[in-house]
Amino acid sequence: MTQQIPIIEVNDVSMRFNMAKEQVTDLKEFFMKLLHGGLKFEEFFALKHVNLKVMPGEVYGLIGLNGSGKSTLLKVIAGVFKPSQGKADVRGSIAPLIELGAGFDMELTARENIYLNGAVLGLSPKYIDERFEDIVEFSELRNFLDVPMKNYSSGMVARIAFAIATCTKPDILLADEILAVGDFLFQEKCERRMKDLMSGGTTVIFVSHDIKQIERICTKAIWLEKGVVKMDGEITAVCEEYKKTRREE
Ligand SMILES: Nc1ncnc2c1ncn2[C@@H]1O[C@H](COP(=O)(O)OP(=O)(O)OP(=O)(O)O)[C@@H](O)[C@H]1O
Ligand SMILES: [Mg+2]
Repeated sequence: MTQQIPIIEVNDVSMRFNMAKEQVTDLKEFFMKLLHGGLKFEEFFALKHVNLKVMPGEVYGLIGLNGSGKSTLLKVIAGVFKPSQGKADVRGSIAPLIELGAGFDMELTARENIYLNGAVLGLSPKYIDERFEDIVEFSELRNFLDVPMKNYSSGMVARIAFAIATCTKPDILLADEILAVGDFLFQEKCERRMKDLMSGGTTVIFVSHDIKQIERICTKAIWLEKGVVKMDGEITAVCEEYKKTRREE
């Protein structure tokens, strides 16, 4: 029997942030205090000894309350953050849909940004040329292509971002609440496209506060609580436990 190798392997990852203990009202005060050693920082761990193994083709839901470390974990996996301790190994190409608008220059038009964001994802202009129609078609924003993206609504930004990230067949798709800002029609469309990618073997980690959506899309789930893995396993088991704590509140 061939033993499968995890496509994502998070090994004892901790992520420490320094948080200012006192409030400063402006940048000048901040630098003055920093210069004179008056600014106190407190260490804060957004992730504590997190372990996770994701096998190729698995679709993981990442759940937990606000501030539990979900986005931080995705950023560690995407290589945006270097963990303070431990490491994250990734064996494949990543399409990150983590921070809405990251990889876009809001002063530029959507047409220009499709190429710019493509370049950020490592896609050549020629590759984008070939998929430009598909991206525009999927986003349903043909009439807004030459409008600067600063005039887009958050849902419109999400449409373009999702269309670009999924025009390739990434090995791994990291999606952080990306569907939350889309209307229900776009959400349905994104779900269909995610399912297409999944049937083609793409591994997905999907963050959402919509548990029904998580249950519909994912096969497994990991639940973070204050930076610690509270549970990791089959989708129904994890979601049932998570829902129980909500009822107890
Ligand atoms: N760059 C940063 N600097 C300092 N603290 C940070 C930074 N990024 C995240 N944090 C802190 O880490 C903790 C976890 O944040 P994170 O964004 O990962 O939570 P989350 O689970 O994604 O929450 P939400 O459901 O609200 O999106 C929070 O307390 C947050 O304030
Ligand atoms: Mg988040």
